[in-house]
Formats: sequence, structure tokens, C-alpha cells
Amino acid sequence: MNQKKLVGEKAASFIEDNTVVGLGTGSTATYMVEALAQRVKEEKLSVTCVSTSNVTKELAIDLGLNVKELSEVDEIDLTIDGSDEISPDYQGIKGGGGALLYEKIVAVNSKKVIWIVDDSKMVDHLGAFPLPVEVIPFGSEHLFEKFKEKGYKPAYRMQDAANKFVTDAGNIIIDLHLEKIDDPKQLAQELESEVGVVEHGFFIDIVDQVIVGNKNGEVEVLTV
Ligand code: A5P
Repeated sequence: MNQKKLVGEKAASFIEDNTVVGLGTGSTATYMVEALAQRVKEEKLSVTCVSTSNVTKELAIDLGLNVKELSEVDEIDLTIDGSDEISPDYQGIKGGGGALLYEKIVAVNSKKVIWIVDDSKMVDHLGAFPLPVEVIPFGSEHLFEKFKEKGYKPAYRMQDAANKFVTDAGNIIIDLHLEKIDDPKQLAQELESEVGVVEHGFFIDIVDQVIVGNKNGEVEVLTV
């Protein structure tokens, strides 16, 4: 049973005619985009899409969806995205695919946000998944050292053995291998105060609903 496909299709069924939809990034969001494209074709829906990454944008255009830039729409009605970890109080870590900055900008400009995940993403504590921090490349070595001194176990996100991963906005990512984060809000504030940090992967008080799939093929819709 493909849990990611299941929740992707379920989320796509929530999309209404004549709305603006934010398209997430990642393997789960890809299933949602495919299911949405199918619905648009079959049901002749009028849906305007805004993408959270260049990868999803290309996919959506290939599938015939109407994609606009965020600056071209007043507001997004519903954004559907994946997540890497979700705590019991519905705080999340995102950015495993490196799209955290645009994902967060799209999310905060959305009336409603739904995350779609398999149940392995529902965790007791955030932090086993490395926390991505998107930083300006200029002088980033100093931030890296600062994170190291604080015991945050930083690692540059790599594209391949020789090259750092570069985000859609032209920045780089330092992943913090924290294992267990006691106070996400406090760490989020601390990271936001660092010059050179563009954004971090904590998504605090952002999600409205979570659609979770399990191995038995059951889907649960949790409202925050
Ligand atoms: C992209 O940067 C991420 O935030 C993804 O939304 C997240 O990594 C979930 O990805 P999967 O659906 O591929 O697990």
C-alpha cells in the first residue's frame, strides 16, 4: 500500500473549483499534483496553482495545470504540502527536499494549509530529522563554526561529493543534527536572530490539517 499516494489523492479531493492552490514539494506532494491534474482534466475544474519550488512548477506545467507566480495572486485558498516530522502539537520540520523557504512563503500566504504524510512522520519529539537552515553563502563558514561551537552538529547539504546543494533562491543549506529538540520555538527565534540565516525548517503554528496514511491503507484527517 503506497501511503504517500493515498494521502496525496485524498488531499487532492479537497480542492474546490475556482480556487488558488499552493502546490508543495517532495514525493508525497507529487502524488497530490498528479491527482489534481487528473481531476482538473476530468471534472474541468478551474484551478490556479502557485508552486513552492521549480521542480513542482515544471511538473505542474507538464501536467497541464495553470501555474502562476505568487506575486500574481492576491491570496492562496489552500496549500497542500508534505512534511518531514510533525510533533504531537502539530509543529513541523520541513525542508528535506531543500524547498523550505518558498514552502514557508507560500504557506504564510495561504488561508489554509494541509500537510500530507505517512505515519512515520508523526513523532513524539522533533529533531531526529536534521533541521535545515537556509543561509546566505557569503561568510557561511562563520555561521557553520558558530553552530558547531553550540553543539548543533552542522553539516552542509551537498548536491554531490564536490558541490553544495543550492536552493531555488540561490542560497545553501546547513543541516543541524540535533537528535531531540526540547524547545522548537526558542531555537526558531535564536536562528532567526542570526545574521546570514534566511530561514529555518521549523514550521510553527502553520498547519491547519494533517492527512496521515498508515500501512493498512487507512487515512486519517487530523484537524489542528
Ligand atoms: C521539501 O523541501 C520538504 O519540505 C518536503 O515537503 C518534505 O521533505 C516531505 O517530502 P516527502 O513527501 O518526499 O517525504
